[in-house]
Amino acid sequence: MRGIFIVLEGPDGSGKSTMASMIGEYYKQKGREIIFTREPGGTKISEKIRNVILDNDNSEMSYNTEALLYAASRAQLVSEKIKPLLQQGKVVISERYVYSSIVYQGIGRKLGIDKIKLINDFATNDLKPDLVLFFDIDPEKALNRKLSSNNADRLENEKLSFHREVYEGYKEILNYYDEIVPINADKKANELFNEIKNIIDNLN
Ligand code: TYD
Repeated sequence: MRGIFIVLEGPDGSGKSTMASMIGEYYKQKGREIIFTREPGGTKISEKIRNVILDNDNSEMSYNTEALLYAASRAQLVSEKIKPLLQQGKVVISERYVYSSIVYQGIGRKLGIDKIKLINDFATNDLKPDLVLFFDIDPEKALNRKLSSNNADRLENEKLSFHREVYEGYKEILNYYDEIVPINADKKANELFNEIKNIIDNLN
């Protein structure tokens, strides 16, 4: 059986986690083995890097450092988990991947799409997902949803204008990456999942 690599992208609080578990459940019912990962994180080393990146105490972190740490966390996740698991024919569902770095660091932090793509091609050895779902929802609405249930981390604490730029960034990169499919995420979980089901049924 061929491995399947699905990535969920979108603003903070756009409902990616809920859909990740519903997609996982769907594949499980089809008899597939599922692995969930999250970025930054997903391995012992990557989780340590995650703590450094998101720590509100690290306000002096340069944007270049931030971009490299996200790429480093991803490099470990790809080599230790994603690649071998795909080779074993598993279904890997990841919340966030290279596209987050392109929009948060490349566009939001203004480091440039090309530079972020370069370090991430290196970090991932050019591993591309089979499908990237972009959860299209107003960033303010999504963020409020998230902040009502959690304390904000260093990136969530960014100004709303940053989150708006990130959102516009996602819309911009839809033009460059064929693998990204936008879905209107401003709806109930069941409705959203039905839409996703149609898309993943057409994979392969
Ligand atoms: P997390 O709490 O995992 O947020 P979410 O549940 O929305 O994914 O925090 C990840 C934060 O890091 C989030 O604000 C997006 C940001 N991020 C980047 O800026 N660049 C990246 O490459 C990745 C993977 C995440």
